[in-house]
Amino acid sequence: MAFLSLSGIRKEFGEYVAVHNFDLDVEEGEFVSFLGPSGCGKTTTLRMIAGFELPTAGSIRIGGEDVSRVPPNQRNVGMVFQSYALFPNMTVANNIAFGLKMRKESKADIKTRIAELLELIHLPQAADKYPYELSGGMQQRVALARALTLHAPLLVMDEPTELPEGSVVPLDIAKDWDGLDDADRARLHEALDEAERDVAAGRTATEDEVLALLQAIR
Ligand SMILES: Nc1ncnc2c1ncn2[C@@H]1O[C@H](COP(=O)(O)OP(=O)(O)OP(=O)(O)O)[C@@H](O)[C@H]1O
Ligand SMILES: [Mg+2]
Repeated sequence: MAFLSLSGIRKEFGEYVAVHNFDLDVEEGEFVSFLGPSGCGKTTTLRMIAGFELPTAGSIRIGGEDVSRVPPNQRNVGMVFQSYALFPNMTVANNIAFGLKMRKESKADIKTRIAELLELIHLPQAADKYPYELSGGMQQRVALARALTLHAPLLVMDEPTELPEGSVVPLDIAKDWDGLDDADRARLHEALDEAERDVAAGRTATEDEVLALLQAIR
């Protein structure tokens, strides 16, 4: 059975149908990306997977369990929001620690985990900064770190490959992502290397092009 299974997912906002009966099966370790024009329902679908929107019809199963009506904090899904959604009044460290504190992890463990994640996102000096002091790309990396804190078996990233000006760090992070088997990882590296060469050569690798490359994996 697939690890994540969407069947007949539909989302209506009033009269408007944002997602039409969508089916998708994702196996454990698979990396899948959605590519489509603005407004086609990508964010709405990802938010339904993470539990921030309830489907009007259809069901969502994770690990064989029907989670269609389960609230987000009980789904064990890490999510990076399209708008990053960092808490503006909290430092970077506290943003990252939020889920760990909710779970009442020990102070020492939280401190270690924050340091590891700040290294991973290449922002070791940013612990005490506030989101408004960071660039958009940096905020995005903090949002990624926050989504990784709980080691959720499913990570949902809304437009994570958007390239912050002059930086290819998100691509490096994607390369280190360990939810992949060796064959998928090799293909991912190839696709990301190609995107990086485009960026280095001054050819614009737009978000859509990078997503298209990633989509080649699935
Ligand atoms: N809360 C809401 N209330 C009403 N309509 C909504 C709501 N959220 C999304 N929509 C509508 O649903 C459609 C799909 O939106 P969604 O955000 O899923 O698109 P998207 O594919 O993520 O687009 P983009 O690439 O621009 O991020 C859009 O027409 C949008 O206006
Ligand atoms: Mg979107």
